[in-house]
Amino acid sequence: MGTRKWNCCACCGSEAFSTMKLLFFMVPLIMVAAFASVKSPNVCRWGFIAKCSASSPSSTPHPSSLQTLHQSNETESFNVSKSWFNLAPMNESSEPHPRQKKKRKLSLLDRTENLLAQARVAIREAKTKNQTQDSDYVPIGPMYWNAKTFHRSYLEMEKQFKVFVYEEGDLPVFHNGPCKSIYSTEGNFMHALEMNDHFRTKDPKKAHVFFLPFSVVMLVRFVYVKDSRHFGPIRRTVREYVNLIAARYPFWNRSLGADHFMLACHDWGPHVSKALPYLRKNSIRVLCNANTSEGFDPVKDVSFPEINLQTGSINGFVGGPPASKRPVLALFAGGVHGPIRTILLEHWENKDKDMQVHKYLPKGVSYYGMLRKSKFCLCPSGYEVASPRLVEAIYTGCVPVLISDHYVPPFSDVLNWKMFSVEVSVKDIPNLKNILMSISPRQYIRMQKRVGQIRRHFEVHSPPKRFDVFHMTLHSLWLRRLNFRVHDD
Ligand SMILES: *[C@@H]1O[C@H](CO)[C@@H](O)[C@H](O)[C@H]1NC(C)=O
Ligand SMILES: *[C@@H]1O[C@H](CO)[C@@H](O)[C@H](O)[C@H]1NC(C)=O
Ligand SMILES: *[C@@H]1O[C@H](CO)[C@@H](O)[C@H](O)[C@H]1NC(C)=O
Ligand SMILES: *[C@@H]1O[C@H](CO)[C@@H](O)[C@H](O)[C@H]1NC(C)=O
Ligand SMILES: *[C@@H]1O[C@H](CO)[C@@H](O)[C@H](O)[C@H]1NC(C)=O
Ligand SMILES: *[C@@H]1O[C@H](CO)[C@@H](O)[C@H](O)[C@H]1NC(C)=O
Repeated sequence: MGTRKWNCCACCGSEAFSTMKLLFFMVPLIMVAAFASVKSPNVCRWGFIAKCSASSPSSTPHPSSLQTLHQSNETESFNVSKSWFNLAPMNESSEPHPRQKKKRKLSLLDRTENLLAQARVAIREAKTKNQTQDSDYVPIGPMYWNAKTFHRSYLEMEKQFKVFVYEEGDLPVFHNGPCKSIYSTEGNFMHALEMNDHFRTKDPKKAHVFFLPFSVVMLVRFVYVKDSRHFGPIRRTVREYVNLIAARYPFWNRSLGADHFMLACHDWGPHVSKALPYLRKNSIRVLCNANTSEGFDPVKDVSFPEINLQTGSINGFVGGPPASKRPVLALFAGGVHGPIRTILLEHWENKDKDMQVHKYLPKGVSYYGMLRKSKFCLCPSGYEVASPRLVEAIYTGCVPVLISDHYVPPFSDVLNWKMFSVEVSVKDIPNLKNILMSISPRQYIRMQKRVGQIRRHFEVHSPPKRFDVFHMTLHSLWLRRLNFRVHDD
């Protein structure tokens, strides 16, 4: 991978592989038969289920190498959601873990865990302290659940977070992903991480999390049998891959996958994660398709955005006029994908000139031009919960209106979406205009300003810039990792 360039699309874009067909040989297959059934299926959900140890029957072996913060009694679980940021500063014990006392010398892992413990303390204390200076950007404002804790957490991440990327796996399915089109965040994240010499470590012993570098988009393109509706071949590829790295390295078995992550923007990401029980149940799944009614767990998993990068770059797509220069109340233009859009069009297509709701825009009308003329941009779920319209709205300074059920918007562990977007449930679609009209001009102006302020968190840069979409995705991973402890034995 050493010869890759910064421009993701120049080397690994989807087009580059269209002629490669199945130039894809699985790494030597090591079948670890019945791997999943050998180990205890009754694994604790790290850190979050307070009654975890109590509710597991004592006969059930608990993975001894992993410990939730709660069980360790050293601190409360580190909740990444709203209430976590509201937690009073905790008293993290500086006592070494009981296991460590037996050993003369701390293992590298114990030292890593101690540093994480220090980060937890610093993050909790940040709430009551003055905010640190930052030459690039100081997060501030109600768009954040807690700007100070976020900022401190971000700085702690920069100080110590390390990710190991397994090198196993061949192109085009591994170490490769789309950098254009609506699934671009898959390829861009993967590429940016593999090129990164700050957060990526080549020494797995120093890593906090381990990346399984397969692309679901590429699996669908190269492994899936077209129109078969069978996930079998894709899941087998992923299963064989995980079994391979579990046999070669101690890390997967040590945590039963809890410090490993997969990443998928493709709709089928959640289905692919079912390749192995622990991949779905334990591992961190970074998904665009963050549908809680399909098992997305906002505490364990990470929601990241779908960004339709038509040219592979955001140049020319970012920026828009202030509220006073936006004559259109609401805009939607797009295909009738999925049930929610059907309802939206039924109620609003050609019904009201303030509500520009179209299947497709009339010829000659620019979509981006319309986004910049609109106050609110409707972002209904399509075939799956995420919509690239969310980021299109944010880029053009249009206040997004999320019309979805069961969707966890990106970076909700840090961002309070209610402050810069409108959330409308599907049953309220008939009321849409009233809901938008009830937002006062003053309130609108505030929201629109905030959209401009959080935009940096959705921007794609090559190479990445601090606080951009790559770093926010990393930060979500970092927060998940702060929730549990790993032990050597
Ligand atoms: C974490 O926060 C969420 C949302 O406030 C809450 O529902 C959940 O119970 C919390 N978990 C823990 C372990 O405190
Ligand atoms: C942890 O806390 C529980 C209840 O608060 C207590 O019964 C248990 O002995 C503690 N364990 C350790 C290792 O301190
Ligand atoms: C924090 O821990 C120290 C040492 O265990 C203890 O003396 C102190 O009272 C604790 N503070 C709080 C707020 O619990
Ligand atoms: C925090 O900021 C305030 C106001 O700028 C200042 O008066 C105070 O001394 C600062 N406190 C610390 C601990 O730096
Ligand atoms: C991990 O566990 C599997 C199944 O129990 C086993 O086959 C494999 O050898 C283990 N890996 C290592 C590195 O010990
Ligand atoms: C979310 O998941 C549920 C349950 O599988 C499904 O019925 C629903 O259609 C999904 N939402 C979208 C927008 O795909």
